[in-house]
Amino acid sequence: MPNPYSTYHHTAFGELTLGNSLDVLADCADSSVDLIMTSPPFGLVRKKDYGNVHADDYCEWFQPFAEQFHRVLKDTGSLVIDIGGAWNEGLPTRHLYHFKLLIMLCEAYGFHLAQEFYWWNPSKLPSPAEWVTVRRIRVKDAVNTVWWLSKTPWPKASNRRVLQPYSPSMKQLLSNGYKAKRRPSGHDISDKFSQNNGAAIPPNLIAIPNTESNSYYIRYCQEHDLPVHPARFPADLPEYFVRMLTDKGDRVIDPFGGSGITGEVCERLERHWQCIELSEDYLKGAVGRFERGVQKKPVIPIENDSNYYRIPRPGILWNGEHGENLAQDGGKTRQSRVVDVQPQEPESSSDLGKTSG
Ligand SMILES: C[S@@+](CC[C@H](N)C(=O)[O-])C[C@H]1O[C@@H](n2cnc3c(N)ncnc32)[C@H](O)[C@@H]1O
Repeated sequence: MPNPYSTYHHTAFGELTLGNSLDVLADCADSSVDLIMTSPPFGLVRKKDYGNVHADDYCEWFQPFAEQFHRVLKDTGSLVIDIGGAWNEGLPTRHLYHFKLLIMLCEAYGFHLAQEFYWWNPSKLPSPAEWVTVRRIRVKDAVNTVWWLSKTPWPKASNRRVLQPYSPSMKQLLSNGYKAKRRPSGHDISDKFSQNNGAAIPPNLIAIPNTESNSYYIRYCQEHDLPVHPARFPADLPEYFVRMLTDKGDRVIDPFGGSGITGEVCERLERHWQCIELSEDYLKGAVGRFERGVQKKPVIPIENDSNYYRIPRPGILWNGEHGENLAQDGGKTRQSRVVDVQPQEPESSSDLGKTSG
């Protein structure tokens, strides 16, 4: 029987593979992979054009992948899954498929939840429009869950690789000194907190706007008349986990390779990588990422204010009045009055509030 998959393009550190990742993984040795970093097709209630399954059938569809992922990971390895939620069709309620997936992976396949992350896309436009901007009964959906799972409770990891700059108030505290005392919560804040370690430990909320609109990849696809992958994650997302969870020379697989961004990040970070993708059209575009050789990441000045995203405190606009009573039917009846959509503040004029998946 002919090999059901093939190397489509290879580089110094890795390869784009054309085929079904289940076939590729079946040929991978047990305990041979350090990190599976991926964004699978999300479960949807309406079908998209790159093979998404219905959210109701998602766990069943994922089972053979789960089995292979667990088998090929090393005991020190991690599985990181970026997955967005879905709304139940015609209802202002959320589908539970991505939580069910997490529970299935832990309870049926023996994965451990090392930590859950939330990827906040600050430039996401308000959606779904019917619930958010028309009936005004939900807020905009702007986070993806990122499940960091591991084969044992002790995957290799270091948060020192993903430190972030101190906030202005922390910098002030460090320069003015901190008086050690017991907090109202009962925590003892020792004077160790006033030690300047150079950078802060990040929270499990990752802010990355998904606003790529004029990258080399996009221009390459346009110039070669190729489809731009519609559900890419930004390079900063795989980079964060590849740096935190692997060392130089380790092996990283993206079984839902898409536009090959995990490969581009790994090539730059000198990890061995394999991005497996079913669609040859997407791989044609992915090749463009590697044709001009490894590109250094541009150095971003830390003090540049645009590198920070801020969320105002809830209630800051409340003037103390109670407003009109809430609709007793929960917004089931669509009001006929003119919609008063609040102006949004996209991060850039090209922003379309893109999301992956
Ligand atoms: C959400 S996209 C991944 C996008 C990618 N993270 C990026 O940023 O470019 C999921 C991809 O998985 C691919 N796919 C779905 N099932 C697959 C399978 N069994 N083997 C390989 N690729 C698959 C789809 O064609 C799609 O391109």
